[in-house]
Amino acid sequence: MEFFLKIQAINGFKDILPDSVGRWQLIEQRARAIFERFGLQEIRMPILERTELFVRSIGSATDVVEKEMYTFADKGITMRPEATASIMRAFIEHGLHVQQPVQRLYTIGPMFRHERPQKGRLRQFHQLDAEIIGAVEPRVDAELIAMGQMLLDELGLTVSLELNSLGCPQCRPPFKAALVAYLEQVITGLCEDCKRRTHTNPLRVLDCKKPTCRALVQEAPSILAALCPECDHHFREVQGALEALQIPFRLNRFMVRGLDYYTRTTFEFLTADLGAQAAVGAGGRYDGLIETLGGPALSGIGFAMGLERIALLMEQQQDQPRIGASMDIFLAALGSEALAPCSLLAHSLRKDGVKTAIDYSGRSLKAQLKQAGRVNARFTLIVGDEEWTQRQGILRNMRTQEQQPFALAGTPAEQSHQLRYLLETAAS
Ligand code: HAM
Repeated sequence: MEFFLKIQAINGFKDILPDSVGRWQLIEQRARAIFERFGLQEIRMPILERTELFVRSIGSATDVVEKEMYTFADKGITMRPEATASIMRAFIEHGLHVQQPVQRLYTIGPMFRHERPQKGRLRQFHQLDAEIIGAVEPRVDAELIAMGQMLLDELGLTVSLELNSLGCPQCRPPFKAALVAYLEQVITGLCEDCKRRTHTNPLRVLDCKKPTCRALVQEAPSILAALCPECDHHFREVQGALEALQIPFRLNRFMVRGLDYYTRTTFEFLTADLGAQAAVGAGGRYDGLIETLGGPALSGIGFAMGLERIALLMEQQQDQPRIGASMDIFLAALGSEALAPCSLLAHSLRKDGVKTAIDYSGRSLKAQLKQAGRVNARFTLIVGDEEWTQRQGILRNMRTQEQQPFALAGTPAEQSHQLRYLLETAAS
């Protein structure tokens, strides 16, 4: 016997099925609306970039660059693991700052990281990414964070906001040295990863989720106590601006983020409802990044939110908004005579912007009404051969089950206008 093995999607790569797409569209629409309220413009970049772009921006000693990138080594290119580096590349390449010194940009799209898949953690995942480039003022940090908070609020999600400052090239090196000196004293108690990180990327040790490492770093020196006067001032101003906007936050000196480009303000929107994958969104300032990539000495701040994580949180909510496809009208053609005029009417209705479903199978009225229910049609127009002979259909309101005659007079376009008018007046 001949049989074929099913081909399945790759582990960590997920289909977004029609049932869920409504939720995704809702999230994307809200995000676009809010980003545009804050003056952000959309930018779209390619998925493949030169590997060097990510090595130089994210940092060669980060988990993302060390082990998570999908790289075509022979071609020197990589599938983007995040959007910030690509946006900066495009910003520099097209000299966007020349047209407009402060650029406010957003993008929505897939990112790729070879992580161990679990709930809320995919290998292909999607980010809503927002960046404000060319502004140094602490109020901008607060404004951007407030925008993220507004989006999560409007989506009905409860998150907590954590804030930290990672200092700058003046104050971070002495802090790093003090941290390494401390970590060397406790190194035998650290996990294998942190033992290695002590010398490659010591700040990441502060962020380790293992309880033993967490306990050991409690006594480590604090970055917040080591900030230079400028960074300290900036951070206080950010906190003051957030307080004025009534955005609650908690300081977390252990939050360091997994990407090396950050300076000063960093933040995460956390949830308790996604198990280990606690961050719904995260971001921060990257004041040296554009220069590192060969661009002008401009600062920037941004965040990215995980669409899968937002969608999961919304799914878990009790009173979810009703989403899903619904049709304005279902055309039930019940005989061979009625089918041709009904298909012309369906085409005219669709041209007129009416969401129209039609069944060409000639099934029984009962079967077609069932189908109308499945596609969530508000109305069904029933046209049997006899109704067509008399040019008289039956319009059924699917919610109230009320029926009324509908005259199939004139051309399909005229019938369509008439029907659209009836549907609109019924809705109001
Ligand atoms: P990130 O913290 O690496 O930052 O990612 C931001 C968000 O993307 C996370 O909070 C999470 O919601 C989502 N995310 C990350 N990895 C995965 C994954 N494997 N599966 C599902 N969701 C994931 C960045 O990417 C920075 N570029 C953010 C930024 C923009 N900073 C400044 N501007």
